[in-house]
Parts: sequence; C-alpha cells; structure tokens
Amino acid sequence: MSTEALSPAPLLHVSQLSKAFRGVQALHDYTLTLQPRTLLGVIGPNGAGKTTLFNLLTGVVSPDRGRILFNGQDITGASPDAIVRAGIARTFQNIRLFRRMSVLDNVKVALQSTQPFRLAEAVLRLPRFVAQEQALEERAKALLAMLELEPYAAMPADSLPYGLQRRLEIAMALATNPKLLLLDEPAAGMNPTEANALMHLIARLRDELKLTIILIEHNMRVVMGICERVQVLNYGEIIAEGTPEAIQNDTRVLRAYLGTVHSEPNHARA
Ligand SMILES: Nc1ncnc2c1ncn2[C@@H]1O[C@H](COP(=O)(O)OP(=O)(O)OP(=O)(O)O)[C@@H](O)[C@H]1O
Ligand SMILES: [Mg+2]
Repeated sequence: MSTEALSPAPLLHVSQLSKAFRGVQALHDYTLTLQPRTLLGVIGPNGAGKTTLFNLLTGVVSPDRGRILFNGQDITGASPDAIVRAGIARTFQNIRLFRRMSVLDNVKVALQSTQPFRLAEAVLRLPRFVAQEQALEERAKALLAMLELEPYAAMPADSLPYGLQRRLEIAMALATNPKLLLLDEPAAGMNPTEANALMHLIARLRDELKLTIILIEHNMRVVMGICERVQVLNYGEIIAEGTPEAIQNDTRVLRAYLGTVHSEPNHARA
C-alpha cells in the first residue's frame, strides 16, 4: 500500500491555477493540497495575488487555467452561489456589512440567504414560518455567542469598533455552514490586543466547528502563532511553503519582504 493511500482525502486540491488581468499575471501555476482541519496561512507583499486566489476559489473571478477540486467535486468555473452551497465561505479585505442594521439582523440576513424563502408563508405568518423565524433567531444568537458578540446584538453594525465588525463578518461567513473558511486579512486595523484575541478565536473556531481555514494576513504574529503551514506568494508565484519556522528563515521570503511597509517575517515572534 502506498503512503498516499493512508492519508485522508484532501478537502481542497488546486492545480496550476492561473489568472492574468490585462497583462498582469496575478496568479501563476498556483498549487495546493489541503487536508481537512488544516489552518493554512497565505502571506506575501501587496499585489502578490492573495486576494485573487480567494476570488478564484469563490467563483468571483474565473481562472485562465487550472483546476479546483473541493470535497470531491470539480468547482472550477462554478458560480459563487454554487460554491457557497458546496461549503466554501469567505470574508472580505474591505468589510462588507449592512451598516445601519443591527448586529443580530446582519447575521439573520446571512442565515436567510442560505434558506429557500417562501413569500406566502411569510406574509400569512403560517406556523411553519413562525417556527422558522424562531429557529433563525436562535441560530443567529448562537453564532453571535460563538464569536463573543452577544452583548452587541442590538447595536447598529457600524457603531461597533473595527475589530468587532471584522468578527461580525466572520459570524456572517459561518452562517452558510462552511467546511472551508477563507479569511482575507481579518486582523487588518486591529491593535495588538484585538489581534491576539482574534488569533485565539480563529484557532477555537477551527477546533469547535471542525473547519479548514485559509488565512491571508499581514500580521505575522497571528500567522506564525496559529498556522501549521504557510505559503508565500510573490508576483503571483509560490516562492516558499512550509512550517512557520522554515518560512521565517527562508532567504527568498526575507528578500520578497524587503522594502515593503509591513512587518518582516523574522520579527514575527518578537
Ligand atoms: N479585478 C482586477 N482587475 C485588474 N487587476 C486586478 C484585479 N484583481 C487583482 N488585480 C491585480 O492583480 C494583482 C494581484 O492583486 P491581489 O489583490 O490579488 O493582491 P494581494 O496579494 O491581495 O495584495 P494586498 O496585500 O494589497 O491585498 C495586482 O497587480 C492587482 O492590481
Ligand atoms: Mg488582498
């Protein structure tokens, strides 16, 4: 028996994924095999292709080349809706919330988007609709509790501090009940205390919800603190891949980061 037969089936298998925008090669021959419940970090300088990777995985952008197999299903070129239904959810680099709505209602909207809506039942308030409403409310509250956002449930989303808005976005992504969660710079704009709390929260979500997570993040303390594996992108290419320790000592990685505004990987554990 080969050793391959002994390892579990990968949740995600990406091969030779490539995308160019008007001559700019945003991603080139990107390859990944991700086992269930892995926490993978993706780092790289600005414009390296990180968000493009998420846009390709979620069907927002279609690839020029390559294949994406998720949970045994070929999702290459599938619509964003179909990909959400298959079990991939994401957050965005720029926060996307219903700003004037309450925190609880934001999560309810996210939950509702996953359910077939029957207008007649809603208008007539049939018993089944009322029961569904209650289930929705309970599930929304459970998600808020998981993200430690319960005390803010009634507040308008845009009144929350930035760090909590980012958490709310994660709660909304989890509303679709994903197997794979893609987080695009969730610690951006957070102070060190908030970033540290977020780091522990992400690790806890992975364990409690048995999630597989890909984390794009410039905050090296967060990446190196929780990811068991890290990929480094530069100009759309994977230039290094390995454990946080190996990545921090990789000369190509250090060179790629020289001259960028973000903290350097070798300072991560400071
Ligand atoms: N929709 C698009 N149209 C044109 N060019 C794009 C598009 N999306 C990305 N690009 C280009 O592709 C390259 C990779 O961009 P991408 O947003 O993936 O980088 P990134 O690694 O997420 O950077 P950052 O750390 O700044 O978020 C950049 O040169 C960017 O300008
Ligand atoms: Mg980006």
